[in-house]
Amino acid sequence: MKIKIESIYKVNHLLLLSIFAVVMAIAFVACSGSGTDNNNATPESMVDTGPSDEDIAASYTALGAIDSTLYESGKATFKTKCVSCHQLDAKVVGPILRDVTKRRTSQWINSMLTDPAAWVQSDPIAQQVFEENNKVQMLVPGGTTADERRALIEYLRKEGNQ
Ligand code: HEC
Repeated sequence: MKIKIESIYKVNHLLLLSIFAVVMAIAFVACSGSGTDNNNATPESMVDTGPSDEDIAASYTALGAIDSTLYESGKATFKTKCVSCHQLDAKVVGPILRDVTKRRTSQWINSMLTDPAAWVQSDPIAQQVFEENNKVQMLVPGGTTADERRALIEYLRKEGNQ
């Protein structure tokens, strides 16, 4: 009788052990699976995807209808201060600018023009543009005034149909 009880106990014990082993195996596979994913991808909260297309469009809509006087003034400033490094439709020293208003907000462009070096230091997208352009730092001789920047944005905005 004593032996019988002991053997029943042993069987139950083995059964419990194997259930435990199966549960552990499933848990291990599940954890290692998601572990691999996490190693390969940056957590979503850390990815800076920048502003959405809607945010970009809204930043130009907020400026109102295209002002043709500002546009002409921006066009003239572009010729004197930007064409040495930029064209609307071809890469020169800096990136193509025809479609820049499709990828950057007006505020972003204003910050870039105000102090390109500081903006590259502080903004992750500006940093990325800098890396993509062989780490050539944009430099506008003599800088730009706030009025010139506003006019340049009007020029880029009209040329980019924003
Ligand atoms: C000495 C050359 C040079 C001049 C002059 C210059 N740029 Fe740039 N620009 C660059 C380079 C190089 C980059 C990309 C690397 C970086 O971020 O510094 C750039 C980047 C930019 C960007 C960001 C483009 C993007 O894809 O995000 C804008 C907008 C821009 N420039 C506008 C202008 C305007 C407007 C002027 C005239 C006031 C101007 N730049 C004058 C060299 C120049």
